[in-house]
Amino acid sequence: MKYLILSDIHSNYQAFTKILNTEKFDEVLFVGDIIGYGADPYFCYKKFLELGGTGVLGNHEQGVILPETLAKFSENARKGILYTMKHIPKEYIDHMRILPPVLEMEDFILCHAMLGDPLSFQYVFPENKDSAFLLESFEVLKKLGKKIHFTGHTHRPCIFKKREDEQIEVYPIHHGDIYLDDAYYVVNVGSVGQSRNGIPKAHYIVYDSVKRRIRFRALDYDIKEAADRILKADLPEFLGQRLYLGT
Ligand SMILES: [Fe+2]
Repeated sequence: MKYLILSDIHSNYQAFTKILNTEKFDEVLFVGDIIGYGADPYFCYKKFLELGGTGVLGNHEQGVILPETLAKFSENARKGILYTMKHIPKEYIDHMRILPPVLEMEDFILCHAMLGDPLSFQYVFPENKDSAFLLESFEVLKKLGKKIHFTGHTHRPCIFKKREDEQIEVYPIHHGDIYLDDAYYVVNVGSVGQSRNGIPKAHYIVYDSVKRRIRFRALDYDIKEAADRILKADLPEFLGQRLYLGT
């Protein structure tokens, strides 16, 4: 099975559709934050549902369904969530309420952030390989009898590998094919619509569960259109400008 795995689309319909029009896959899975920041929460969530709506809850969806969590967001993020609430129908918000925090698939798990306490949405950046939250995620993975945890949230793609001697290695974004061995992996798939690794592209992965192969991809898309729509929507200008920088 070839899985297209997408995270952190953040209402960027241009980046999202560029991937869908480019990539071949059997099933598409979503690692949270379909909405927020960008101008097109309606079209992005609609497309997500049309594609089967299989995915996990992100902190931005949590912001929509639990407004008491809004205080935890930056001002720009909060504006994006309030904009989302105004521009999507009630049935989409109801659908967000049934998104699970963790989704178990054949040999892997999806969770927007770390597995120890999924709804606390902890950040583990590529430079944080000694993070207690990451260690906890590896423990949960082992307990659940799975080998791979696909995650997002930081918008910075990378792979953490736990070797047999319990040491953790980190690999930054890697173009080309990666064949997984029998170790445990936490794989950050990066962000479709709000890259923050300095590469202003739409990031995602394709996982082939038969070959146990991960392919990291980053596509150019119409950034100008996405940024112009943010301006027209009266969202903070900064949210459009950062798309050009990928930061
Ligand atoms: Fe995000």
